[in-house]
Amino acid sequence: MTPETGNENAVLDRIIGERRTHRKFTAAIPPDEMIESLIHAGLHAPFAASAIGSTSDYFRKFFVIRRDSKTMSALALLVFAEVNTLAAALEKGMAHDVALREQATAFTDRLAMIRKLGRVPGVGTAPFYLVVAEKKGFPPVEQQSLFACMENMWLKATALGLGFQVVSVTAQMADNEQFCRLLGVEPGKWAFMGCATGYPAEQLSPSIRPSVGEVTTWMG
Ligand SMILES: Cc1cc2nc3c(=O)[nH]c(=O)nc-3n(C[C@H](O)[C@H](O)[C@H](O)COP(=O)(O)O)c2cc1C
Repeated sequence: MTPETGNENAVLDRIIGERRTHRKFTAAIPPDEMIESLIHAGLHAPFAASAIGSTSDYFRKFFVIRRDSKTMSALALLVFAEVNTLAAALEKGMAHDVALREQATAFTDRLAMIRKLGRVPGVGTAPFYLVVAEKKGFPPVEQQSLFACMENMWLKATALGLGFQVVSVTAQMADNEQFCRLLGVEPGKWAFMGCATGYPAEQLSPSIRPSVGEVTTWMG
């Protein structure tokens, strides 16, 4: 390893360690160039080439929604309504499905918290809400591709000193006609993932995880 690559390696390790989920943001608005550099990082993430096949238009799109925009108000209402629909459907399913009841308790608690709050964290609570769309393919691996994209954006945000929050309920909006029409994509044809970004309102410690030895088995 040359001194130069040793330095790059140390920088990468530091960024990986400092990547955290920020859920509180200051009112300061990051410059558009920072958001563009997040998108650049997302574009360079891997994608499932054989699942996408050949498409005439590009298979990954980015939508930038500013906190106080008309689009944000409209999308926030739609996402909140979707959470309510999801919670109602889940409650109904859990009423006579013990296994689902046991499995989904933490998730339904989170949905209940969101309903009580009256808004979805990350949608309108940070200067920017970004939606990434990936064209659906076969086999259906677009959520995996989207998360590779998210991780690149997340690491880039960390390097830039921005806070980053995944807004995973965005994925539930893929079949929502109004949401898709607002973004200008054909309903049902695209998968979504979302995130919120802005300057973090609090400093978090680097991430804490078990040691490599605790979770690794070297097979003979
Ligand atoms: C697939 C996935 C979905 C997530 N969805 C959300 C979300 O909707 N809202 C949120 O605040 N955090 C979300 N997170 C962040 C996790 O809660 C977070 O990564 C985890 O608690 C570890 O904390 P850290 O990111 O600070 O290391 C998500 C993370 C992943 C990997």
